[in-house]
Amino acid sequence: MTAVADRSLGPELARTETIGPDTDVLVIGLTSSENGPAIAPDDLFSDVLGADIRAELLDQLGAVGAKGKPEELTRVPAPAGLEGVTSVLAVGLGSPDKVDAEQIRRSAGVAARSLSGTELVVTTLSGLDLGAAAEGFYLGAYTFTPFKSGKSAPKSDERPVVRVELLVPEPEFGTTELLRAQLVAEAVATARDFVNTPPSHLFPAEFATRAATLAEAAGLEVEVLDENALEAGGYGGVLGVGKGSSRPPRLVRLTYAGGDKKVALVGKGVTFDTGGISIKPAQNMENMTSDMAGAAAVIAATLLAARLGLPITVTAVVPMAENMPSSTAQRPGDVLTQYGGTTVEVINTDAEGRLILADAIVRAGEDSPEYIIDVATLTGAQLVALGTRTPGVMGTDDFRDRVARISREVGENGWAMPLPTELRADLNSKVADLANVAPHRWGGMLSAALFLKEFVPEGVQWAHLDVAGPAYNTGGPFGYVGKGGTGVPVRTLIAVIEDIAAE
Ligand code: BES
Ligand code: ZN
Ligand code: MN
Repeated sequence: MTAVADRSLGPELARTETIGPDTDVLVIGLTSSENGPAIAPDDLFSDVLGADIRAELLDQLGAVGAKGKPEELTRVPAPAGLEGVTSVLAVGLGSPDKVDAEQIRRSAGVAARSLSGTELVVTTLSGLDLGAAAEGFYLGAYTFTPFKSGKSAPKSDERPVVRVELLVPEPEFGTTELLRAQLVAEAVATARDFVNTPPSHLFPAEFATRAATLAEAAGLEVEVLDENALEAGGYGGVLGVGKGSSRPPRLVRLTYAGGDKKVALVGKGVTFDTGGISIKPAQNMENMTSDMAGAAAVIAATLLAARLGLPITVTAVVPMAENMPSSTAQRPGDVLTQYGGTTVEVINTDAEGRLILADAIVRAGEDSPEYIIDVATLTGAQLVALGTRTPGVMGTDDFRDRVARISREVGENGWAMPLPTELRADLNSKVADLANVAPHRWGGMLSAALFLKEFVPEGVQWAHLDVAGPAYNTGGPFGYVGKGGTGVPVRTLIAVIEDIAAE
């Protein structure tokens, strides 16, 4: 099963100036105010949605209790004057002064999720923000079903919406926005697919092959180090974590050479994290299929930078390993030598992410990038500190703040966290240069970042994103996010890369 390479990821997206005759559902936006709900936008599309049709719709929607609250859904039969349309779905946008791109993305996503089994949807949300509406529909309609067979395969009324037409006021309106939204949403879906592919099917060698296949198709330079090359190169962190598994580790390096400025992306690719000899409890261990979400995001973002043709060079360095307990696994107390020579005492084999990332960060530094961004489902402490939807952003002060700000601008909620210097001494080891964990659990997310900081070359602007919670949704669907892989932080990464390219 090659879920990543060959399936169609989401609905067809197209712009349209007219509402076609076979429209199943027209999706409109509804803002809320003291005077009741209002259709938004109110200044566009008067030829297809005239004053009398709007008045009739508002009457009908009001009669069944529509208020325009954020993400509220109200479906009514299409007014007689609205030819070719079967029904109208009003999706709430909340207060008119708070309708930003993220609200439109979420509302479109909620609408898309409620429209399974629908062939053709037309929407006016494109009049508010075409790109955000397109991303929201595409990502809201995302499902992952390659492992559903026979009886459990989606029925026709459960299949995601097939085609979404975005209503536009003029022929050229939103052409570049749609192209970008389509590529961005596909990249997010690619990251989700990788995360959602079970660990039985996505192990280091397979992950490397799939990443290389996509990268070659996008015209990137690809290098894959297998276990022998890792041994020869001295990648002790990746080898140490991978050696408990019958499925050997890999290090994948993808380069999109688009310009003089250089950004390196590093992503944690633990295809499954049992904890190793410091084994995790059985409860919820299955969620550790998501422990390669950082890798998925940096691979998808690098492919996206290439597809967008950004004037910048992006190199992804992605260590991949399966953290298993076995007679060949590393032990608590073992000392390994990271790529570049630093020795580390492995106190806890479940703190494996930082070991594979350290090798990759040192390797990334050899390409002399001006910026290094690493992404990892690194610590449970991230969830304790910030919850399930807020990535922790650490690193060098200015760049950390810039990445966190951009992350919030794109609706991925990154929040800057400090690296208190007093925590560093807790990573001292009696036998090696460093210990992989502190002897206490305070500030676990920060302590992991301080470990990584030891491997970041002097003078490089660095950001570390801990997405342990945000990369994988174990709760119910919300907005444009279903259960499972979320694709966070692909949109942050591409926005940061674009921001650097535009400097
Ligand atoms: N992959 C986990 C972190 C994680 C936890 C991700 C929950 C997603 C959800 C990581 O490898 C890990 O096990 N971290 C340990 C570190 C500890 C041993 C210092 C943790 O957070 O408990
Ligand atoms: Zn892990
Ligand atoms: Mn772990």
